[in-house]
Amino acid sequence: MHAKMLHVFCPSLLPLSFNLKYIYIFSEAVPLVLIWLKLLVAQVQLDMEGALTARDRVGIQDFVLLDETTEAAVISNLKKRFSKDLIYTYIGTLLVSINPYKELDIYNKKQMDIYMGVNFFELPPHIYALADNAYHTMLTEFNNHFILISGESGAGKTEASKKILQYYAVSCPSTTLLNTVRDKMLMSNPVLEAFGNAKTLKNDNSSRFGKYMDIQFDSQGDAVGGHILNYLLEKSRVAHQNHGERNFHIFYQLVEGGSDKLLQQLGLERDCQHYNYLTQGECAIVSSINDKNDWKSVKNALQVINFDEENTSHLFGVVASVLHLGNVRFDTDGKGHALLNDKTELNWVANLLGVDANKLLEGLTFRKIETKSEQVLSPFTIDHAIYVRDAMAKAIYGQTFTWLVNRINETIENKDSSRKTVIGLLDIYGFEVFYVNSFEQFCINYCNEKLQQLFIQLTLKAEQEEYEAEGIEWEPVQFFNNKIICDLVEEKHRGIISILDEECLRPGDATDLTFLERLEEKMGNHPHFVTHKLADKMIRKTLERGDFRLLHYAGEVTYCVVGFLDKNNDLLYRNIKDLVCRSKNAIVSECFSSMDLDNKKRPETVATQFKSSLLKLTEMLMAKEAWYIRCLKSNESKQQGHFDEALIRHQVKYLGLMEHLRVRRAGFAYRRKYEDFLKRYKPLCPATWPHWRGLPADGVELLAQHLGYLPDEYKMGRTKIFIRHPRTLYATEDAYEKCKHELATRLQAKYKGYKAKGEFRKQKEAATKIETCWRGAQARKEKEKRAWAVKVIKKFIKAYINRGQLKTTDNSEYLAFVRQSYLNRLKNNLPVTVLDKTTWLTPPAVMTEASEVLRKLHYRLMVRKYVRGITPQRKAQLQLKFITSCIFKGKKESYPQSIAQPFANTRIGDQEINMRVLSMIRNEHIKYSVPVIKYDRNGFKLRPRQLILTQTAAYVVDEAKIKQRVPYTSLKGVSVSNLTDGLIVFHITREDPKQKGDLIMQCEHLFECLTQLSVIANKQNAIKVVQGSIKVEIQPGKETAVDFSTGQEPMAYKAKNGHLMVVATRTRTR
Ligand SMILES: Nc1ncnc2c1ncn2[C@@H]1O[C@H](COP(=O)(O)OP(=O)(O)O)[C@@H](O)[C@H]1O
Ligand SMILES: [Mg+2]
Repeated sequence: MHAKMLHVFCPSLLPLSFNLKYIYIFSEAVPLVLIWLKLLVAQVQLDMEGALTARDRVGIQDFVLLDETTEAAVISNLKKRFSKDLIYTYIGTLLVSINPYKELDIYNKKQMDIYMGVNFFELPPHIYALADNAYHTMLTEFNNHFILISGESGAGKTEASKKILQYYAVSCPSTTLLNTVRDKMLMSNPVLEAFGNAKTLKNDNSSRFGKYMDIQFDSQGDAVGGHILNYLLEKSRVAHQNHGERNFHIFYQLVEGGSDKLLQQLGLERDCQHYNYLTQGECAIVSSINDKNDWKSVKNALQVINFDEENTSHLFGVVASVLHLGNVRFDTDGKGHALLNDKTELNWVANLLGVDANKLLEGLTFRKIETKSEQVLSPFTIDHAIYVRDAMAKAIYGQTFTWLVNRINETIENKDSSRKTVIGLLDIYGFEVFYVNSFEQFCINYCNEKLQQLFIQLTLKAEQEEYEAEGIEWEPVQFFNNKIICDLVEEKHRGIISILDEECLRPGDATDLTFLERLEEKMGNHPHFVTHKLADKMIRKTLERGDFRLLHYAGEVTYCVVGFLDKNNDLLYRNIKDLVCRSKNAIVSECFSSMDLDNKKRPETVATQFKSSLLKLTEMLMAKEAWYIRCLKSNESKQQGHFDEALIRHQVKYLGLMEHLRVRRAGFAYRRKYEDFLKRYKPLCPATWPHWRGLPADGVELLAQHLGYLPDEYKMGRTKIFIRHPRTLYATEDAYEKCKHELATRLQAKYKGYKAKGEFRKQKEAATKIETCWRGAQARKEKEKRAWAVKVIKKFIKAYINRGQLKTTDNSEYLAFVRQSYLNRLKNNLPVTVLDKTTWLTPPAVMTEASEVLRKLHYRLMVRKYVRGITPQRKAQLQLKFITSCIFKGKKESYPQSIAQPFANTRIGDQEINMRVLSMIRNEHIKYSVPVIKYDRNGFKLRPRQLILTQTAAYVVDEAKIKQRVPYTSLKGVSVSNLTDGLIVFHITREDPKQKGDLIMQCEHLFECLTQLSVIANKQNAIKVVQGSIKVEIQPGKETAVDFSTGQEPMAYKAKNGHLMVVATRTRTR
């Protein structure tokens, strides 16, 4: 294989609206670089690895993200996915599809909905994803696109193109008007397939023409029209089919499905075996094809695309005429010239095409040679006649096919001149290799070479452009460029086509073999060309003498030169051409009348026409954005679930998938506009979340640094970030996935908070409102109360002013209040003891009288209570005290101190009185006894004595002796001083001779003693309180005195004047 160093530039071959659109990876093995994960804890690391493994379980969705770019890894990934019916895998935005040979439930409306408007990266690979992205890119960028579907025959190209068309039909916006356009575009398919597809060994529904269909969209994205270009129909199939192959479907469909009436009109029998042109492959009827049903679809489709009765009948007229032509059998006359004995079939042809039968016969059996003066008819041999017949059949069928395409174009054409964008669908016959390969295979395979070349150019161009635009350095990558093979075929003057044309045009006996010789001369040492003659021994064994072999990019193909010249010339003799030009079948006449019959110049050969149409196609495609679908055949036997590894490896190789992958991975696996990158991954860095206000590039740089990207791991372009290894992206994506949940929780929390806040605010507002209302109500109440209070107070003030007046309406209330309040206050402040005379509340004027009454009542009550509480003993005591008070109060200085001291009944018990004394005075009843000090009358000596008071007399006792008995009758008076001393003087009457004289005593219990005496002897009035001095009669007629004075110490002594001097202390005045 010729490997050439190319430089890989950068891509913009893919539109920009994907998430993971630009995924390119280095060719060398990618080390597991998760450096930035160092930032994360080990647990997180494990989680991420786990996620990666999970992602890889059904293989990798995008080869770009494979660890290693070996063929084995690629095939193993394909196989892994295929085993799970995952037939689609990406290489960046290129879609690899493997024919599953079974219906998968992935093309329904639900699936379409899932993929509508969704990012490439987010869903499993699907043809809908590619279709959708092409569509949306076209809309946003308002430019033209095409989807190149390639792969060998039977790999699923046509199916893929149909799926895309269906997707657009369903997903694009629609109106009734547009629906009809859409239906027509969809329905053009079964018609074109009926006329242009056939069963081959490779594919039961193999496209035998190249098809490029533009779908036009207006600026709203409505599919508003379309246009179809067809390329080189394999006409040879009309007259000849290899074993195991069929003619174009329409023939079988007509014979099997056409109504009896139609068949009758067309002179056909319902038996494919009856027709020469249908039986050569010996497989007219195959179980995998239902011609009857297909016929119905075609009839229906013809109606949808506006074919009227006439057109339809003419169309089937042509089809039938071809079948009849095939059945025209020639005999020979003696000279070996062709003869026609049975003209039935010929008549049918003439009839159906509306031409003269004789002229037709002439055209089929004679060649018209025109000289200057005359026309000469030269008869054909049988072989020649058959050749002409077949040529005619091929020509009218081929022309009709072109007519059909034009008619369809008319119906789907959009006549509106406003600007439209298109998505082109290129479904061209795939690379094919048969046992015998002829001119058709040569053209088909050449076409595939051209498309491969286009693919290489676009891919590299796009790469270069992107790297240059972004100012990123590019790196060289090795891959096979098939330009050398294209040149071998098409180069001017030196290429195979030029040599073939030369042979076709040169005068003399040019044959297929002379063509081969010429090739050998010219291509002798070309590395991709070999013939029997040029080959070495080993290879020679595999080649026939009439073969040449091309080493295509997709593999070797050996072509048999037989028929090359004829097929390239594609000549139709003049007289046949003239004839069909005048055909009454409108289709045929239309097709052929356009040919310039008078032009003597030879028409361009088929190969050259094909070459220039491909050139045009290439130019047209180069001006559009490309999308690629690479279809792979899973096996040769159309078996479902069978993954033929060798076959797949071969396709992977020649389709250049490995090279494509390497180109894609060269440099940077991933690239993304700064805005998009930031938009997706900004939650991963606190500095960029939730908003990045600076330049997107700066934000991305920050993000990259935060994620710990190594400097070599990424590059900053002008508008995009380029990431070298897919693992880095995975890690970022995983982190994003993880963060998404956290974010969701955060957002949720925020939202909940927000809601709660709202709720709270509402409640607070409500509370405030209620509060306000409540306060208002309270305030109003308060106001009322105050107003009332003011009124009341006013009234009170007025009443207060008039409080002294008699009760009037003005003051009555106030007075009542005053009364009540006074009574209330009084209740709580009543004096509690009888003695308390001060606490009685001062009454208001109105209450003076009542207060006085109450006060008296209260005191009386208290007195009563007090009195009731007094015991008889206490009563007696008090009575005594009362007597004391009557005698001494205000007179004797020591009286106040005595009040608190209780009186005793006696101070000396009976047992303390001498028995003798007792026995002497018992009958007089002892009432009270007290110890006293008696002063002698002479000298005033002190003598302790007992003073005993009986009922009748007072006794002064000294132990057993009664010293003096003073009957009460003899007691004329008692004197005491007004001071604090305890001196008592008994004044005794003179009349009693027994009496000695007055008694002077000192008694500690003076008040008690004298009170007892006053009670017992009824001497209350006899007791006198004297100031200064008391006269004492010592003997009858002999008087002395007791003088009283006050001093520091109490004392008593005989003064110089002979009087008893008693000094008393003063009571302290409080
Ligand atoms: N996606 C698919 N799902 C199921 N079967 C498919 C799919 N693609 C292709 N096939 C089968 O393979 C056959 C050949 O596919 P086709 O598209 O006609 O091949 P190509 O156009 O490449 O020659 C189809 O008739 C169909 O039976
Ligand atoms: Mg096809």
